[in-house]
Amino acid sequence: MSCVCRTMFFLLVLAIIAISSSTPSPSEPGEGHTDGFEMYKTWHIHAVNGMSHEKILFLHCKSGDNDLGIHNLTAGTEFNWKFKPQILGKTLFWCYMAWGNVHASFKVFWDDNDLFYRCNWKNCIWTAKDDGVYLKNIPENYDEFRHKWEPGRLDANSTM
Ligand SMILES: *[C@@H]1O[C@H](CO)[C@@H](O)[C@H](O)[C@H]1NC(C)=O
Repeated sequence: MSCVCRTMFFLLVLAIIAISSSTPSPSEPGEGHTDGFEMYKTWHIHAVNGMSHEKILFLHCKSGDNDLGIHNLTAGTEFNWKFKPQILGKTLFWCYMAWGNVHASFKVFWDDNDLFYRCNWKNCIWTAKDDGVYLKNIPENYDEFRHKWEPGRLDANSTM
């Protein structure tokens, strides 16, 4: 190879390396979670009645665009839904839960890497228990206490 040819070849190799390293590749499990691309995959939210003594859990979940309706969950059952965030950082779901004469109202999905970690980048599992609402920390395999029950109930029509 002449000197010019060798230089051209070297530049070509450099260009190929530069292109391939700047192209987003499919993320490996456990990698690339901070770049925001994960927001666009399908997420699965679970609201579980994990209470004792056959308590019925009143549940009403919503996002800005969707009202997921009222569900009365018997003990040991869950309501769940899937979605794909459309706009980076803009997707928000929240739920109102109530039983007896107590309630809790809280976000169940928002743009938060700590949340995504606990959901294992796929499944956010919120469980109502006798003393409050827990979020499953899937990688570390335990239920994390997140919200205590507040006294009283809100009107079913103004549950958020
Ligand atoms: C759920 O239970 C409440 C009472 O706590 C009742 O008013 C409501 O109609 C029930 N809704 C459904 C969809 O079962």
